[in-house]
Amino acid sequence: MNSSKKVFITGASSGIGEYLSYAYAERGYFIGLAARRRDRLDLVQSKCESIGSEAKVYELDVLDEKACREAAQDFISLPGEIDSIYANAGVGGADNLSSGTAEAMNRVLSINILGATNTVMPFIPYLKEQKSGKIAVVSSVASFRGLAHHSAYSGSKAAVRNICQGWGTALHKHGISVTAVCPGFIKSEMTDRNDIPMPFLMDTDVAAEKIIKAVNKGKKVFIFPWQWKVLVVPLMRFAPDWLVQKIGM
Ligand SMILES: NC(=O)c1ccc[n+]([C@@H]2O[C@H](COP(=O)([O-])OP(=O)(O)OC[C@H]3O[C@@H](n4cnc5c(N)ncnc54)[C@H](OP(=O)(O)O)[C@@H]3O)[C@@H](O)[C@H]2O)c1
Repeated sequence: MNSSKKVFITGASSGIGEYLSYAYAERGYFIGLAARRRDRLDLVQSKCESIGSEAKVYELDVLDEKACREAAQDFISLPGEIDSIYANAGVGGADNLSSGTAEAMNRVLSINILGATNTVMPFIPYLKEQKSGKIAVVSSVASFRGLAHHSAYSGSKAAVRNICQGWGTALHKHGISVTAVCPGFIKSEMTDRNDIPMPFLMDTDVAAEKIIKAVNKGKKVFIFPWQWKVLVVPLMRFAPDWLVQKIGM
Protein backbone atom coordinates (compact mmCIF):
# COMPACT_ATOMS: atom_id res chain seq x y z
CA MET A 1 0.00 0.00 0.00
CA ASN A 2 1.30 3.39 -1.06
CA SER A 3 -1.53 5.65 0.15
CA SER A 4 0.90 8.34 1.31
CA LYS A 5 0.77 9.31 -2.39
CA LYS A 6 -2.27 10.92 -3.95
CA VAL A 7 -3.48 11.32 -7.53
CA PHE A 8 -6.34 13.56 -8.69
CA ILE A 9 -8.14 12.58 -11.91
CA THR A 10 -10.95 14.40 -13.72
CA GLY A 11 -13.16 12.45 -16.09
CA ALA A 12 -12.77 9.46 -13.76
CA SER A 13 -16.32 8.20 -14.33
CA SER A 14 -15.55 6.42 -17.62
CA GLY A 15 -12.98 5.63 -20.28
CA ILE A 16 -9.36 6.69 -19.88
CA GLY A 17 -9.91 8.39 -16.50
CA GLU A 18 -11.67 5.34 -15.10
CA TYR A 19 -8.84 3.02 -16.15
CA LEU A 20 -6.17 5.44 -14.92
CA SER A 21 -7.94 5.21 -11.56
CA TYR A 22 -7.76 1.41 -11.49
CA ALA A 23 -4.10 1.46 -12.54
CA TYR A 24 -3.28 3.84 -9.67
CA ALA A 25 -5.42 1.76 -7.30
CA GLU A 26 -3.30 -1.25 -8.18
CA ARG A 27 -0.24 0.81 -7.23
CA GLY A 28 -1.89 1.61 -3.86
CA TYR A 29 -2.38 5.35 -4.39
CA PHE A 30 -5.14 7.43 -2.81
CA ILE A 31 -7.23 8.70 -5.72
CA GLY A 32 -9.44 11.77 -6.13
CA LEU A 33 -12.17 10.85 -8.63
CA ALA A 34 -13.82 13.85 -10.30
CA ALA A 35 -16.64 14.07 -12.86
CA ARG A 36 -20.36 14.86 -13.04
CA ARG A 37 -21.97 11.39 -12.91
CA ARG A 38 -22.05 10.50 -9.21
CA ASP A 39 -23.40 6.97 -9.75
CA ARG A 40 -20.51 6.13 -12.09
CA LEU A 41 -17.94 7.67 -9.76
CA ASP A 42 -19.32 5.63 -6.85
CA LEU A 43 -18.83 2.45 -8.90
CA VAL A 44 -15.25 3.43 -9.77
CA GLN A 45 -14.60 4.21 -6.10
CA SER A 46 -15.94 0.77 -5.05
CA LYS A 47 -13.75 -0.94 -7.64
CA CYS A 48 -10.66 1.01 -6.50
CA GLU A 49 -11.42 -0.10 -2.94
CA SER A 50 -11.91 -3.71 -4.00
CA ILE A 51 -8.49 -3.54 -5.66
CA GLY A 52 -7.15 -2.51 -2.24
CA SER A 53 -6.77 1.24 -2.49
CA GLU A 54 -8.75 4.25 -1.25
CA ALA A 55 -10.54 6.92 -3.25
CA LYS A 56 -12.70 9.99 -2.70
CA VAL A 57 -15.43 11.12 -5.06
CA TYR A 58 -15.72 14.75 -6.21
CA GLU A 59 -18.97 15.26 -8.10
CA LEU A 60 -18.30 18.37 -10.17
CA ASP A 61 -18.47 20.01 -13.56
CA VAL A 62 -15.00 21.11 -14.70
CA LEU A 63 -16.61 24.30 -16.03
CA ASP A 64 -17.41 25.26 -12.42
CA GLU A 65 -14.22 27.08 -11.39
CA LYS A 66 -15.30 27.40 -7.73
CA ALA A 67 -16.20 23.71 -7.45
CA CYS A 68 -12.82 22.73 -8.94
CA ARG A 69 -10.99 25.05 -6.54
CA GLU A 70 -12.90 23.67 -3.52
CA ALA A 71 -12.25 20.08 -4.63
CA ALA A 72 -8.53 20.83 -4.99
CA GLN A 73 -8.42 22.46 -1.54
CA ASP A 74 -10.14 19.45 0.00
CA PHE A 75 -7.86 16.99 -1.81
CA ILE A 76 -4.76 18.94 -0.75
CA SER A 77 -5.93 18.85 2.89
CA LEU A 78 -6.05 15.04 2.94
CA PRO A 79 -2.96 13.26 4.31
CA GLY A 80 -0.17 12.39 1.89
CA GLU A 81 1.88 13.93 -0.85
CA ILE A 82 0.34 14.79 -4.24
CA ASP A 83 2.02 12.71 -6.92
CA SER A 84 0.04 13.60 -10.06
CA ILE A 85 -2.88 15.70 -11.32
CA TYR A 86 -4.73 14.56 -14.45
CA ALA A 87 -6.91 17.04 -16.36
CA ASN A 88 -8.50 14.29 -18.41
CA ALA A 89 -12.19 15.30 -18.63
CA GLY A 90 -13.16 16.21 -22.15
CA VAL A 91 -15.83 16.01 -24.80
CA GLY A 92 -15.95 15.60 -28.55
CA GLY A 93 -18.56 16.89 -30.93
CA ALA A 94 -19.05 18.32 -34.38
CA ASP A 95 -18.78 22.03 -35.12
CA ASN A 96 -22.30 22.21 -36.59
CA LEU A 97 -21.11 24.63 -39.24
CA SER A 98 -24.59 25.06 -40.70
CA SER A 99 -26.29 25.77 -37.37
CA GLY A 100 -25.78 29.54 -37.39
CA THR A 101 -24.75 29.37 -33.72
CA ALA A 102 -21.46 28.98 -31.89
CA GLU A 103 -23.11 26.87 -29.18
CA ALA A 104 -21.71 23.44 -30.15
CA MET A 105 -18.19 24.75 -30.73
CA ASN A 106 -18.17 26.81 -27.55
CA ARG A 107 -19.23 23.83 -25.47
CA VAL A 108 -16.30 21.73 -26.72
CA LEU A 109 -13.81 24.62 -26.47
CA SER A 110 -14.83 25.55 -22.95
CA ILE A 111 -14.98 22.06 -21.41
CA ASN A 112 -11.71 20.98 -23.00
CA ILE A 113 -9.72 24.19 -22.37
CA LEU A 114 -11.25 25.90 -19.33
CA GLY A 115 -11.91 22.50 -17.78
CA ALA A 116 -8.17 21.85 -17.85
CA THR A 117 -7.19 25.24 -16.41
CA ASN A 118 -9.93 25.03 -13.75
CA THR A 119 -8.57 21.62 -12.75
CA VAL A 120 -4.86 22.33 -12.69
CA MET A 121 -4.46 25.96 -11.58
CA PRO A 122 -5.65 25.47 -7.96
CA PHE A 123 -2.97 22.82 -7.43
CA ILE A 124 0.01 24.80 -8.76
CA PRO A 125 0.82 26.86 -5.62
CA TYR A 126 0.71 23.67 -3.54
CA LEU A 127 2.91 21.70 -5.95
CA LYS A 128 5.39 24.60 -6.04
CA GLU A 129 5.58 24.56 -2.26
CA GLN A 130 5.91 20.77 -2.30
CA LYS A 131 8.69 21.19 -4.91
CA SER A 132 7.43 18.13 -6.78
CA GLY A 133 4.50 16.83 -8.74
CA LYS A 134 3.38 15.77 -12.16
CA ILE A 135 0.69 17.48 -14.18
CA ALA A 136 -0.87 15.67 -17.12
CA VAL A 137 -3.45 17.10 -19.50
CA VAL A 138 -5.13 14.77 -21.96
CA SER A 139 -4.82 16.41 -25.37
CA SER A 140 -5.13 14.30 -28.54
CA VAL A 141 -3.45 13.43 -31.83
CA ALA A 142 -6.25 15.62 -33.24
CA SER A 143 -4.28 18.59 -31.86
CA PHE A 144 -1.83 18.34 -34.76
CA ARG A 145 -4.23 19.48 -37.48
CA GLY A 146 -7.40 21.55 -37.62
CA LEU A 147 -9.99 18.88 -38.41
CA ALA A 148 -12.82 19.54 -40.84
CA HIS A 149 -16.14 19.64 -38.92
CA HIS A 150 -14.35 19.00 -35.61
CA SER A 151 -12.18 22.10 -35.46
CA ALA A 152 -13.39 23.01 -31.96
CA TYR A 153 -12.16 19.63 -30.76
CA SER A 154 -8.80 19.74 -32.57
CA GLY A 155 -8.39 23.43 -31.63
CA SER A 156 -9.12 22.79 -27.97
CA LYS A 157 -6.62 19.95 -27.87
CA ALA A 158 -3.97 22.11 -29.61
CA ALA A 159 -4.63 24.83 -27.03
CA VAL A 160 -4.08 22.54 -24.04
CA ARG A 161 -0.96 21.04 -25.62
CA ASN A 162 0.41 24.54 -26.03
CA ILE A 163 -0.59 25.46 -22.45
CA CYS A 164 1.25 22.36 -21.21
CA GLN A 165 4.39 23.54 -23.00
CA GLY A 166 4.19 26.91 -21.24
CA TRP A 167 3.44 25.39 -17.84
CA GLY A 168 6.26 22.89 -18.31
CA THR A 169 8.80 25.61 -19.03
CA ALA A 170 7.64 27.75 -16.11
CA LEU A 171 7.35 24.96 -13.56
CA HIS A 172 10.44 22.91 -14.39
CA LYS A 173 12.58 24.81 -11.87
CA HIS A 174 10.05 23.95 -9.15
CA GLY A 175 10.47 20.21 -9.69
CA ILE A 176 7.12 19.89 -11.48
CA SER A 177 6.78 18.05 -14.80
CA VAL A 178 3.98 18.69 -17.28
CA THR A 179 2.88 16.15 -19.88
CA ALA A 180 0.54 16.70 -22.81
CA VAL A 181 -0.92 13.25 -23.42
CA CYS A 182 -1.87 12.80 -27.10
CA PRO A 183 -3.73 9.52 -27.62
CA GLY A 184 -4.91 8.11 -30.94
CA PHE A 185 -8.07 6.01 -30.72
CA ILE A 186 -8.62 4.48 -27.28
CA LYS A 187 -11.67 2.39 -26.34
CA SER A 188 -14.07 4.54 -24.31
CA GLU A 189 -17.59 5.95 -24.35
CA MET A 190 -16.25 8.64 -26.70
CA THR A 191 -14.99 6.17 -29.30
CA ASP A 192 -17.97 3.80 -28.76
CA ARG A 193 -20.07 6.58 -30.32
CA ASN A 194 -17.84 6.80 -33.43
CA ASP A 195 -19.01 5.26 -36.70
CA ILE A 196 -15.73 5.92 -38.52
CA PRO A 197 -12.81 3.52 -38.98
CA MET A 198 -10.53 3.70 -35.93
CA PRO A 199 -7.07 2.47 -36.90
CA PHE A 200 -4.82 1.15 -34.13
CA LEU A 201 -7.68 1.27 -31.57
CA MET A 202 -6.14 0.54 -28.16
CA ASP A 203 -7.72 -1.05 -25.08
CA THR A 204 -8.29 1.37 -22.23
CA ASP A 205 -6.31 -0.56 -19.61
CA VAL A 206 -3.30 -0.77 -21.92
CA ALA A 207 -3.57 2.97 -22.65
CA ALA A 208 -3.73 3.81 -18.92
CA GLU A 209 -0.50 1.92 -18.24
CA LYS A 210 1.28 3.66 -21.12
CA ILE A 211 0.08 7.08 -19.96
CA ILE A 212 1.28 6.53 -16.39
CA LYS A 213 4.69 5.38 -17.62
CA ALA A 214 5.07 8.50 -19.81
CA VAL A 215 3.89 10.85 -17.06
CA ASN A 216 6.25 9.25 -14.53
CA LYS A 217 9.10 9.76 -16.97
CA GLY A 218 8.16 13.43 -17.25
CA LYS A 219 7.66 13.28 -21.03
CA LYS A 220 6.59 16.67 -22.35
CA VAL A 221 4.43 15.33 -25.20
CA PHE A 222 3.34 11.70 -25.34
CA ILE A 223 1.89 10.56 -28.67
CA PHE A 224 0.61 6.97 -28.79
CA PRO A 225 -0.07 4.28 -30.03
CA TRP A 226 3.31 4.32 -31.74
CA GLN A 227 1.80 4.03 -35.24
CA TRP A 228 0.22 7.46 -34.72
CA LYS A 229 3.50 8.96 -33.63
CA VAL A 230 5.52 7.51 -36.49
CA LEU A 231 3.03 7.50 -39.36
CA VAL A 232 -0.20 9.38 -38.88
CA VAL A 233 0.77 12.50 -36.92
CA PRO A 234 3.62 13.42 -39.33
CA LEU A 235 1.14 12.94 -42.19
CA MET A 236 -1.44 15.12 -40.41
CA ARG A 237 1.12 17.85 -39.78
CA PHE A 238 2.71 18.00 -43.19
CA ALA A 239 0.15 16.73 -45.71
CA PRO A 240 -0.77 19.43 -48.25
CA ASP A 241 -4.27 20.90 -48.06
CA TRP A 242 -5.30 19.45 -51.44
CA LEU A 243 -4.61 15.92 -50.15
CA VAL A 244 -6.43 16.50 -46.88
CA GLN A 245 -9.40 17.95 -48.76
CA LYS A 246 -9.43 14.87 -50.97
CA ILE A 247 -9.48 12.39 -48.09
CA GLY A 248 -11.83 14.66 -46.10
CA MET A 249 -9.83 14.70 -42.85
N1 LIG B 1 -10.79 7.83 -26.48
C1 LIG B 1 -10.02 8.38 -27.39
O1 LIG B 1 -9.80 7.82 -28.47
C2 LIG B 1 -9.36 9.69 -27.12
C3 LIG B 1 -8.38 10.13 -27.99
C4 LIG B 1 -7.74 11.33 -27.76
C5 LIG B 1 -8.07 12.08 -26.64
N2 LIG B 1 -9.06 11.64 -25.81
C6 LIG B 1 -9.37 12.46 -24.64
O2 LIG B 1 -9.34 11.65 -23.50
C7 LIG B 1 -10.13 12.25 -22.48
C8 LIG B 1 -11.03 11.18 -21.85
O3 LIG B 1 -11.99 10.78 -22.82
P1 LIG B 1 -12.45 9.27 -22.99
O4 LIG B 1 -12.04 8.82 -24.31
O5 LIG B 1 -12.09 8.46 -21.81
O6 LIG B 1 -14.04 9.46 -23.11
P2 LIG B 1 -15.23 9.26 -22.10
O7 LIG B 1 -15.34 7.85 -21.67
O8 LIG B 1 -16.39 9.91 -22.75
O9 LIG B 1 -14.77 10.11 -20.82
C9 LIG B 1 -14.91 11.49 -20.72
C10 LIG B 1 -14.88 11.86 -19.26
O10 LIG B 1 -14.93 13.28 -19.14
C11 LIG B 1 -15.91 13.61 -18.16
N3 LIG B 1 -16.47 14.92 -18.45
C12 LIG B 1 -16.97 15.38 -19.62
N4 LIG B 1 -17.44 16.61 -19.47
C13 LIG B 1 -17.23 16.97 -18.17
C14 LIG B 1 -17.52 18.11 -17.40
N5 LIG B 1 -18.11 19.19 -17.94
N6 LIG B 1 -17.17 18.11 -16.10
C15 LIG B 1 -16.58 17.04 -15.54
N7 LIG B 1 -16.28 15.93 -16.21
C16 LIG B 1 -16.63 15.88 -17.52
C17 LIG B 1 -16.94 12.50 -18.25
O11 LIG B 1 -17.61 12.35 -17.02
P3 LIG B 1 -19.10 12.83 -16.69
O12 LIG B 1 -19.92 12.69 -17.93
O13 LIG B 1 -19.50 11.90 -15.58
O14 LIG B 1 -18.96 14.23 -16.20
C18 LIG B 1 -16.04 11.29 -18.48
O15 LIG B 1 -15.58 10.79 -17.26
C19 LIG B 1 -10.89 13.39 -23.16
O16 LIG B 1 -10.25 14.61 -22.86
C20 LIG B 1 -10.76 13.08 -24.63
O17 LIG B 1 -10.85 14.22 -25.44
C21 LIG B 1 -9.70 10.47 -26.02
